[in-house]
This record gives sequence, structure tokens and C-alpha cells, in this order.
Amino acid sequence: MKVEILSVANIAGMPFERLEREFTVHKLWQAEDRTKLLAEVAPRIRGIQATGSATVDAATIDRLPKLEIIACCGVGYDGIDVAAAKRRNIVVTNTPDVLNDCVADLGIGLLIAAARGIATGDRFVRSGKWLAGNLPLQAKVSGKRLGIVGMGRIGRVIAKRVAGFDMQIAYHARRRVPDVPFRYYEKLVDLARDSDFLLAIVPGGKDTRQLVDEAVLRALGPKGILVNIARGPVVDEGALVRCLQEGALGGAALDVFEDEPKVPEALWKMDNVVLVPHIGSATRETRAAMGNLTIDNLVAHFSGKPVLTPV
Ligand code: 8YV
Repeated sequence: MKVEILSVANIAGMPFERLEREFTVHKLWQAEDRTKLLAEVAPRIRGIQATGSATVDAATIDRLPKLEIIACCGVGYDGIDVAAAKRRNIVVTNTPDVLNDCVADLGIGLLIAAARGIATGDRFVRSGKWLAGNLPLQAKVSGKRLGIVGMGRIGRVIAKRVAGFDMQIAYHARRRVPDVPFRYYEKLVDLARDSDFLLAIVPGGKDTRQLVDEAVLRALGPKGILVNIARGPVVDEGALVRCLQEGALGGAALDVFEDEPKVPEALWKMDNVVLVPHIGSATRETRAAMGNLTIDNLVAHFSGKPVLTPV
């Protein structure tokens, strides 16, 4: 008898065939009637496969009396009620490190795209506007001041990448990180004031909700560019739209949004904004690595071994 797993969310690249070889998998996201499926399987479910965007709240956990592990295919797990899980000794795992490269690559790509007008230029050519004149001049990237919000695993990889652009790096985090050589700012608003570009790569959740608020955006200023590859709620989206509309902020490049997949329509029309649909980890290579690590954690747990990447 295979162990029964509840898959609460789909994620492109997840090797479901392997998951289904190892376990009996009930895909909640495929069910026509989720309540009915849950009622049927709840007493037998011993593991959950989730994603970084999925919600696994206390009520869901409470409905699964035999639940032992929640394996999240994603480094972020802000949708999972870890406290509720821990109260029942349920193990929670995520997928750190395997996505560092891809998320960092996208952050740099977005920064350059926004500063140099790559997406704007693409639209400019496609719409035939080039025939009537040149694209307005854009901002230089190399040698500029980059403020990184969050100096965790991915923040460090970004810092390593941008060293090649001779950028001056400084950062804000809850605490100073002992082994990095960059200037630390205790107050994010001060970092924003001293930066040309601000890039957010902190975990989501209540501690970082609206960390990038209106004051921070205004401090970044009319030439400043915000890059968000963290979580939508890390930025006050209403204030972001306002600041961009007023010209109080120079531009933005966003991979994540407050209410995905809904993106404020006001942003669609802005040429100084680059918008992508939460693709930080979305490469074939990285998603396979994330999916396999998620399954490795489940397999380890149900073989009585310690999980590889507990949160
Ligand atoms: C995924 C992510 O896109 O790892 C994370 O925290 O945000 C991404 O890698 C996400 O898990 C998709 O649901």
C-alpha cells in the first residue's frame, strides 16, 4: 500500500510521474469538486505537496488527522501555516539553493530590462514607432548603486553577479550579515535614498508585509528603479502605482504581485514598468531540481530518514 499524498497546487516542471510512482497522489487542483475529494481522502492523507504560492492553512491541516509532512516545491512558504504544522509535529520542507541561480539571473535581467528599456524598445520596434524616430535615452546600469533588500541565499548570488557590473552594493536586512563585505543599512528608507536601483529579495509573510512602503519608494526617487523578485505583498502596490503615476519613482520591474495572477491595470499601460508572470524559478532545469528535491524530502520522511531541507 502506497502512502497517500495530497497535491494542493500544480507547478510547471514538477515531475508528477515520479511522485505518482512513489505515492498515491490526489490532485486537489484537478478535482471538479474539491470539498468532495478532500472529504473522501482526508482520513488517509499522510503528506502534502504544496508550492511557494499555495495556501496550506490551519483549517486544512486540522482536517488531515494523519498528516506528517508538508513538502513545498518552492523556497518561499509564506502560504503555509508553519506554526499550526509544528504544533502537531508535522514536518515542513522547502527547496532552498537549487533555485538561487535562476532567481538571481532573472533579477539582473529585470534590472537591465527596466533601466535600458529592453521591453519598451521591443514594443517600440514591433509597433513600427522606430520608423518615426528613436527611443528616448535610458539609464546606464554599470557602475551604479544597487540596494539589495534581503541578504539571504539569493541576495548573495545577486551580489556576486553584479560585481561584474562594477556596481556599488549595499543592503538592508533585519540584521547585519556578518560575512558579507557590503555596507549595511539598518533603515530601508536610508538605503533607498542612497541607491539608484533597489532590488527586493526577502521572504514573504507578515514580517515583511509592505516593507517597501511609500516613504521608501519616494526616497528611491524619480530616477530610481524598483525590482521585486520577492513576494508581491513585500511592496505596497497601491503606493507603487501612485508613485509611478506621479513620476515620484522612475520605474519598476516586477515578477511578483499582491494578488497574482491579477496585475493592476494601471501598470499595464506604463512604459517604464517591466512585468513578468512570477517566473523567477521557471526554467526546465530549476523546476526539475525543485520538484525532485520536494519528492526526495517526502521519500526520505516516509523511509524513516531525516528530510533533506526542513524549514
Ligand atoms: C515558484 C517561488 O514560482 O520558490 C518560490 O518561493 O516563488 C517560485 O519558485 C512558486 O513556488 C510557484 O508557486
